[in-house]
Amino acid sequence: MGQVHVTDHPLIQHKLTIMRKKDTTSMEFRQLATEISILMGYEVTREMPTEEVEIETPLEVTKGVEISGKKVVLVPILRAGLGMVDGFSELMPGARVGHIGLYRDPETLKPVEYYCKMPGSLKDRQVIVLDPMLATGGSLTDAVSLLKERGAEHIQAVCIIGAPEGIEVFKKAHPDVDLYIAAIDRQLNDHAYILPGLGDAGDRLFGTK
Ligand code: PRP
Ligand code: URA
Repeated sequence: MGQVHVTDHPLIQHKLTIMRKKDTTSMEFRQLATEISILMGYEVTREMPTEEVEIETPLEVTKGVEISGKKVVLVPILRAGLGMVDGFSELMPGARVGHIGLYRDPETLKPVEYYCKMPGSLKDRQVIVLDPMLATGGSLTDAVSLLKERGAEHIQAVCIIGAPEGIEVFKKAHPDVDLYIAAIDRQLNDHAYILPGLGDAGDRLFGTK
């Protein structure tokens, strides 16, 4: 069964507080999203399998440990998920990156798919879905459904802020998927924005408002 992991390390809380401030610039916002992603990545990768290997130091032969197991694919949900790719790629430079394009229809608030490009054989990969915001839960839920339809069997989801109602929706739809989240906020407003939240993550990352 998947679990909800709240990764509320003090450094993450501190950086998230700066992200939330309305006067934080896009440049600062992007940098903070990267730093939080690196810190969250530490927890997300905690259970990665390892294997013992023999190596030679300049002085003697010894045993070391290397990551083994499935190859990782990072899947940002466009646009805002892109803000988390650099941080995770720092930790796992060999990871492939698949993209899912979804936007929320402003009237229905339902996600609309407009792009999907994945590396081959998702079945054999560890898939890490990235999206800073989990509001109604529709986008993350649909993204994970799409990945499962394409064969993915080992999926983790990583969000920075979630609303309680969205987390419930996601857990119900995908009880097998572990969700990592840095903060669970109070509620959604009438336009399905997270309160207190940080506003529109895509606009803040890319300076489009
Ligand atoms: C935002 C965010 C999530 C989605 C969350 O994307 O990045 O993907 O909303 O909302 P939900 O949980 O109610 O589905 P948005 O649709 O604003 O697109 P953008 O990233 O391109 O701005
Ligand atoms: N998407 C965002 O970017 N922010 C919210 O608060 C909700 C959805």
